[in-house]
Amino acid sequence: MKITSDELRKKWLDFFCARGHKPISSASLIPENDPTVLFTTAGMHPLVPYLLGEPHPAGKRLCDAQKCVRTGDIDEVGDSAHCTFFEMLGNWSLGDYFKEQMVPWSYEFLTKELGLSPDRLAVTVFEGDADCPRDTETAELWHKCGIKKENIFFLGKKHNWWGPAGQTGPCGPDTEMFFDTGKPKCSPECSPACDCGKYVEVWNDVFMQFNKNADGTFSPLKQKNVDTGMGLERALMNMQGLSSVYDTDVFVPIVSKIKSLATVDDIDSADNVKAVRVVADHIRTSTFIIGDERGVTPSNVDQGYILRRLLRRAIRFGATLGLKSGDYSEIAMAVVDKYAHVYPELQSAKNKIKEEIDLEEVRFTKTLENGIKEFEKLCKFLQTDTIPGKSAFRLYDTYGFPLEMTIEMAKERGFKVDVEGFEAKFKEHRDLSHAGAEQRFKGGLADTGEATAKLHTATHLMHKALKTVLNDPNVNQKGSNITPERLRFDFSFARAMTPEEIKAVEDLVNAAIKADVPITCEEMTVDEAKASGAVGLFASKYGEKVKVYTIGEYSKEICGGPHASRTGELGHFKIVKEQSSSAGVRRIKAVLE
Ligand code: SER
Repeated sequence: MKITSDELRKKWLDFFCARGHKPISSASLIPENDPTVLFTTAGMHPLVPYLLGEPHPAGKRLCDAQKCVRTGDIDEVGDSAHCTFFEMLGNWSLGDYFKEQMVPWSYEFLTKELGLSPDRLAVTVFEGDADCPRDTETAELWHKCGIKKENIFFLGKKHNWWGPAGQTGPCGPDTEMFFDTGKPKCSPECSPACDCGKYVEVWNDVFMQFNKNADGTFSPLKQKNVDTGMGLERALMNMQGLSSVYDTDVFVPIVSKIKSLATVDDIDSADNVKAVRVVADHIRTSTFIIGDERGVTPSNVDQGYILRRLLRRAIRFGATLGLKSGDYSEIAMAVVDKYAHVYPELQSAKNKIKEEIDLEEVRFTKTLENGIKEFEKLCKFLQTDTIPGKSAFRLYDTYGFPLEMTIEMAKERGFKVDVEGFEAKFKEHRDLSHAGAEQRFKGGLADTGEATAKLHTATHLMHKALKTVLNDPNVNQKGSNITPERLRFDFSFARAMTPEEIKAVEDLVNAAIKADVPITCEEMTVDEAKASGAVGLFASKYGEKVKVYTIGEYSKEICGGPHASRTGELGHFKIVKEQSSSAGVRRIKAVLE
């Protein structure tokens, strides 16, 4: 079936709405109050509190298309199916229906709505282990729908268990659906677990019934949930019978724009095909990160650093295609045009996206120029004919020189490069930054513990106090990150706060704590929330309900929760640091003692 991205999104939402689901808007790509991950990586991610038992304002059946970013595979981008940004179509049962309902719906959607022949479908189910029994129930449900026994495969945890997204959190056995391309089996054991290309994954249904605890054990969740996810780009590739996601309609205008700007002769050579894909992927992801409702700009920390890496990598690959200054933001405009009707935040941020990309390009060019000076100096003082791996790595890490470029420049001057030494340094650095990423997961996904809830309430009080004390309409939340130990809050403000202002903010928050007022939560539409004077993100396409937390006269904010019940529980509030986070953005760290 030839189906476009717009048609697939619509079919998905229509199908689940007809079955009692409420559509919800995609959440921001930047998770709020979640110290464990930098970006939203799956549709279930913004729903973690609800999977753990908090009631969702839209009810127990939800569906959406969620913006996701995963940068773990950044070096694989350029092959046919890896993307750093993708859309995940998802539907959820929050303690409502379970497998007996989800399996027949999945079958119906794939065969009737998408027109896949049942004989071309293969499914996998969990084979069972000490944590959870063999999922014969799901296998039987598939068989009853019409999947032949030989197309049902039992596999272990490695393949048929999803989550948690961090070290702890909701998870469970899953059943995955694969499109059988019709290629012959590569061996008698060939199954969807095999990567020979016979089977292509289309959809994943997770039967989320466990919470993984910090000690590695699993305990049953309060409620049994269903969490499903279908990658839009890969589904389109399969449906349209294409060999790469870059040939699907979401990428076509982006890729054509790149090709029209490129000046190399052989745009279809293997290297150039890869470069076009890297530029297309990275500029698309950067556009969504800058243009997000909680968008960030390039920097040397957190999301801003990933954005910087994506843009610089795009520029490096783009240079091999002959792309020049200003081309990258023009490609970004093709991304905005393709997606603005689905993600209107991109349209509103159009100028900002253009400016930030142009600016980063200028900065990168400058860095490269400084790198060339550094390189010349290095050559001048070199005692041997080989540039040490350490120096090549410094050129790479500090000045953004790809190794190939250093080798080439060295060759022109009759030098060699210690490639092995470079790779050893590279690995050392990667291991270190992986260790950093692991640290992020320590707290567990979206911790809903008591300490975190109290700090979350303190964050609302502080946000309001900042607005009052600084008396500047531009003071707005730019980011929030809470661990059980401290809160961290980024807000827009042009200068450092004075010690008096910091004290005044602390005093206001402590006065609210002393007043011991209750925290109440109401559900209302976004328009009602706006009219009530609540602050927060108003992004919503479906007029869906949001939660508004009110803290007496002190604060009113749109937020998912959870919060303390009374301010008196908070103890004493103290700001431990106020510093610059990026241009025009301040960062506060504060604790409750
Ligand atoms: N959470 C599962 C996934 O990411 C299903 O949505 O695949």
